[in-house]
Amino acid sequence: MIEEKDMTLEERRQQSWERWVWQTARVQPDIGKIIIRTGVFFMQRYFKQMVLFVLENNRLQDLLEDEPRDMDFIQAQGKLLQGVLEFVTEQFDREEWMIEQYLLEGGPQQKEEHQYFIDTLQGMISDFKAGKLKIGQLLKLFLQDWMIAHVNKTDGRTFTLSRWHQNIVDHAEKWDHVALLIHNLGIEYVDHDHKDILVSIIKLNKALQFLPDKLGAQLQDHFQIIASKMAEHFARERVLIERFNLPNKEFHLEEHYRIIKQLESLRDDLVRCRAGIVKEIRDSLILVWIDHINEVDAETFAEASILTTVVKQVRNWNEAKYFLRSTGMDWLDESHRKLTDKILDLVLVIESWEIGETRLDDLVQETVYLLQKIHDLGRQFFAQEEAWLALEIPFRYREHKRQHDEILQDLADLRSHLKVGNLAFSPKVKTMVLRPWINHINDVDFELYSHPDISY
Ligand SMILES: [Fe+2]
Ligand SMILES: [Fe+2]
Ligand SMILES: [Fe+2]
Ligand SMILES: [Fe+2]
Repeated sequence: MIEEKDMTLEERRQQSWERWVWQTARVQPDIGKIIIRTGVFFMQRYFKQMVLFVLENNRLQDLLEDEPRDMDFIQAQGKLLQGVLEFVTEQFDREEWMIEQYLLEGGPQQKEEHQYFIDTLQGMISDFKAGKLKIGQLLKLFLQDWMIAHVNKTDGRTFTLSRWHQNIVDHAEKWDHVALLIHNLGIEYVDHDHKDILVSIIKLNKALQFLPDKLGAQLQDHFQIIASKMAEHFARERVLIERFNLPNKEFHLEEHYRIIKQLESLRDDLVRCRAGIVKEIRDSLILVWIDHINEVDAETFAEASILTTVVKQVRNWNEAKYFLRSTGMDWLDESHRKLTDKILDLVLVIESWEIGETRLDDLVQETVYLLQKIHDLGRQFFAQEEAWLALEIPFRYREHKRQHDEILQDLADLRSHLKVGNLAFSPKVKTMVLRPWINHINDVDFELYSHPDISY
C-alpha cells in the first residue's frame, strides 16, 4: 500500500474524505459514490458485500455504546468477524486465480496484502475469543483502510477491465474463465443467452488460434451460427425493452444494430478470405460481446431501472417473472412468486377504478382487505425465511430480519392510513407495495443467497 508520506496534498484530502464517509456511513448509498468501478462483475459483488459488512459493523458499534453487555451483541460481533473471514478467503482465492489465469498486473503485491488482511483478521478473532470486546472499533478502522488502500487502489489497478482486454482474448478458454467477469442481470433467459453465446465464441476462438489462414467451410458455419444466435438474442431483448420502455432504449437498440452490421462485414471478409481476418475475428468478437453485456445490457436491465420502469407497468405474474432474481433456493423463490402474485391482485382493483365502475368506498375496502392478505402472507414467508437464516447464516439474521420488519411495518401503516381515511385511494398503491418488495428480492435476498454460476 502507498505510504501516506508519498502522497500529494490532493490525494491526502481525498483519502480523509473517503475515511470520513466510511466512518459515518449507515446505509449503502452513502458509500456507493466512493467505490471504484472496475467493470468486473465479481469485483462489484465483492465491493457490495464488503460495504454490507462495514455497515453491519457500524451498526453494532452504535449498539455497543447503548448496551455494552448485551449477549446478542457479543454473538453478532463474533459471527460478523467469522463471516468476513470466510468471505474474503474465498474472494482472495478467486482474485489470485484470476491474476494467474490472465497474467494480470500486481500479483505479488495482491498476495502480500491479502495475506496481511487474513493474518490481522485472525488475530482479531483470537483476541475477541479471549474476551476483548472492543474489537469492533478496530475492525471498523481496519475495514475502512482496506477499502481505501487495497480495494480502491490495488484492486482498481489489477482488475479494471479495460486494462486487460487482450489478456481475455488470449487466455479465456472456457465459460468458468469469463463467468466471473460478466454481469449477471438476474433475468434468467437473457443471462442464459449471454452464456450460451459466450461459450460458442470461446470455442471458435480456440479453433482460430490453431488454424492456418485458410479457413474451412466449417468455421464459416460456426461464425454464422454465432451471428444468428446474437441476432435472435437481440430480438428477444428488444421485446422486453420495448414492452417496458426500459432506459437507454434508443441507444441500446442502435447498438444491437451496429453489432449486427459489424458481424455482417466480418462474415463477408471471412468468405473472401481477406488477409488478417482470422485474427480480427478472434480479437474482436469476444470483446464486442462482453462489452455489450457489461456496458449496455447492465445499464438497461439494472436493478434500479427495473424498480422505476417495470414495477409501475407490470400487470401480472407472466410479466413480472422475468424480473425477479432467483435465490437458487426453490422454496424461497416459490414464496417470492406467491407474494408477488398476491400483490398483483391489486391490479384488478386499479382496473376497476380506471373504468369507474366501482364505488370509491368499495374500492378502499377491497384494497384494505388485499393489503391485509399481503401482510399476512408476507409475515408467514418472512418467518420461514428467518428461521432458515438463523440456522444457516446466523450473523446475517438480525439485520435481515430488521429489513423484513420494515417492509411489514410500511404495509401495515399503508393499510391503516387507507382504512381510516388519512390516505385517499390512488392507483399508485400497487407500485408502493411492489417496489420495496422487488427491491428486497433483487437486491437484498439475491446478494445474500445466490451464488454466481462459476467453478474454476
Ligand atoms: Fe485484492
Ligand atoms: Fe444481451
Ligand atoms: Fe443488449
Ligand atoms: Fe429476505
